[in-house]
Amino acid sequence: MKCGSAVLGLESSCDETAAAVLGADGTILAEAVLSQEAEHSPYGGVVPEIAARAHLDYLPRLVAQVMERAGLGYADLAGVAATSGPGLIGGLIVGSTLGKGIALAHGLPFVAVNHLEAHALTATLPGIVAQDARGQPMPPVRFPYLLLLLSGGHCQCVAVEGVGRYRRLGTTLDDAVGEAFDKAAKLLGLPWPGGPALERLARQGDPARIPLPRPLLGRPGCDFSWSGLKTAVAHAVARCPGGVPSAQDRADIAAGFQAAVAAVLADRARHAIAMLPDATALVVAGGVAANGAVRGALAAAAEARGLPLVAPPVRLCTDNAVMVAWAGIERLRLGLTDALGHAPRPRWPLEELAA
Ligand code: KG4
Ligand code: ZN
Repeated sequence: MKCGSAVLGLESSCDETAAAVLGADGTILAEAVLSQEAEHSPYGGVVPEIAARAHLDYLPRLVAQVMERAGLGYADLAGVAATSGPGLIGGLIVGSTLGKGIALAHGLPFVAVNHLEAHALTATLPGIVAQDARGQPMPPVRFPYLLLLLSGGHCQCVAVEGVGRYRRLGTTLDDAVGEAFDKAAKLLGLPWPGGPALERLARQGDPARIPLPRPLLGRPGCDFSWSGLKTAVAHAVARCPGGVPSAQDRADIAAGFQAAVAAVLADRARHAIAMLPDATALVVAGGVAANGAVRGALAAAAEARGLPLVAPPVRLCTDNAVMVAWAGIERLRLGLTDALGHAPRPRWPLEELAA
């Protein structure tokens, strides 16, 4: 390891506290993620104040842990990168302030990383092996490519043309797709976060028995809308005898919901591919990218247009600090650093990034 070339990345924008150290070439030297699921699940969603306090508790320890595991001291770093938006402001303040503090104390450059850019660039990380939809290894993706960011907080389709060069092709008009999974799961009596539980329940269901709407299917562009589908789930539950769905009803509604989401996402992806004809791949990221039905539908849509569907390993699709350190490396390479006075931004659209 060359001295002064590794980058420390910090992530604290939502409910995952994470730190990672990467070598300049993208080799992952150490990574750690602490999920706050247990803290938030009694409330059925992320409580911002609890999240901020948990980041404050966990992050300094995680930093010490990854530095030790990487076998490095701060003098071995080329910079510190911390997620500085978009996200929950309390967590952003914790992570970016710690990052700036380390940078200041050790005379290192600081990079204020946009969380969406970090998700967007994960597919170019040479240190990991991206997989296609069948789990086969893929070489890192080349620009330009399409990114579908499908998480609990984000639902957008982006043309990734280079570091700092993004065009948002579509976004949600209401809920994020992960939020829709969580709300549908709650209506079906499943615990939060509901996506994985809903996917398991859907395996026992018949997606055709209780048809649900497919919002925006066939409409031009690649915007998304999920609130009508969630309301349709509420109505389907209410229509069950006595308003109480049987085990089979619940499984059928879950399967119908998942099939509707997968069909809409595939339709939106087809439109996105038409909007970026020179795309080299369709990349998925975010927690919902872990869903098998969603991956299958997107792979079919991409393959029909001659494109691979690329999915980073699930641990790098969900919130993590490896992606933050990698975005930091890419920015440092271009000489893009930020002042220690950089203020974290709860809202920070990708289009406002300039490389
Ligand atoms: O990216 P992520 O871990 O965190 C952020 O939202 O930033 O995404 C979490 C979301 C939750 O809404 C969760 O229910 C959903 O991703 N999710 C899934 C699955 N695994 C996680 N949704 C559907 N199927 C899954 N297997
Ligand atoms: Zn995220």
